[in-house]
Amino acid sequence: MFDNPSLLLDTAATPEGQFNWKSPSNLAIVKYWGKYGVQYPRNPSISFTLENAFTQTILAYELKTDQGEGISLDFTFHGEENEAFKTKMVKFLGSITNIFPFLNQLHLTIKSGNSFPHSAGIASSASSMSALALSLCSLEDELFQTLQDDVLFDKKASYVARLGSGSACRSIYGGMAAWGKTEVISGSSNDYAVSFSEELHDIYKNFHDDILIASKSEKSVSSRAGHALMEGNDYATPRYQQANARMKKLVEVLKNGDVETFGTIAENEALTLHALMMTSDPSYILMRPNSLKMIELIRNYRAETKHPIYFSLDAGPNLHVLYPESVIHEVRPFIEEQLVPLCEEDLWISDWVGEGPEQLEEVGEGQ
Ligand code: PMV
Repeated sequence: MFDNPSLLLDTAATPEGQFNWKSPSNLAIVKYWGKYGVQYPRNPSISFTLENAFTQTILAYELKTDQGEGISLDFTFHGEENEAFKTKMVKFLGSITNIFPFLNQLHLTIKSGNSFPHSAGIASSASSMSALALSLCSLEDELFQTLQDDVLFDKKASYVARLGSGSACRSIYGGMAAWGKTEVISGSSNDYAVSFSEELHDIYKNFHDDILIASKSEKSVSSRAGHALMEGNDYATPRYQQANARMKKLVEVLKNGDVETFGTIAENEALTLHALMMTSDPSYILMRPNSLKMIELIRNYRAETKHPIYFSLDAGPNLHVLYPESVIHEVRPFIEEQLVPLCEEDLWISDWVGEGPEQLEEVGEGQ
């Protein structure tokens, strides 16, 4: 839908410059798991956009000296060359030249880095792909002034981010964002995410999402492979129906502030995601013993204290601990005393619902 063969540079001009974008990760409450075509979701999903877990990407460009076809790229991650990431990036950029044909005319330098230790076992594709998509849209707008309308800019950035990593399309918007066609969110689309912040009850606007690192080891099965395994999963069809029904219920409680129902759905979704992994063929388990210990501790603590504290999981072993700001003074000591000792090297990230990506003026050092 964003193909545009006319976005070609007059090579007599010699543009050069750079953009610096910081873009956060997100945590889905109703999860996207299963896809078709070019990164289209089998069911709608909705997520909190985080604040402290982010990627910062600097994209510098100049006219290619040799005007041959193909992507010309220098890439560093945390200041170091990374061949595996670079290969992935070249492949991705090469796959979107129908959207940004000028990419074949430029030499690009991308310097990227995450706010969290990249070995922390936290998926960074949402933050990195959204930061890249935003940088590419800034570049298009700089060269052609075609994305002056902010709504269009965000829509295109979300569309491009989706092509890089499905869930990344939701990171373009602060607060909450939904992706995938659903009758309960007007304007929702399989092509890009839409903001769900306007109708959001105040209690969720600064909700906490502490990330507890149960294991920093690399996942044994990638999300890409996990999505693919859904195609042969016996539970796939009922799962997609369930996700649609949960979306309906969740949207209601996101509007009315019923945190208990919110928490019940969040936990069920997390466990459903992992149940789908366990029931795939071949089956696999990404939770670690300490993930389960933490889940048990959270549920016991909730039963004893009646505090609204819930958990979620991404496609990995790490716990996302969810609670409203109003109980932070009670809940924090519990997290620090009982959950953090179960983390690998006591590693955890204090995070909360954030305002979304930010374009930085200054180009930082050491990325
Ligand atoms: O965006 P991907 O392809 O890495 O898939 C991630 C899917 C989950 O994080 C498990 C769920 C979600 O909706 O974010």
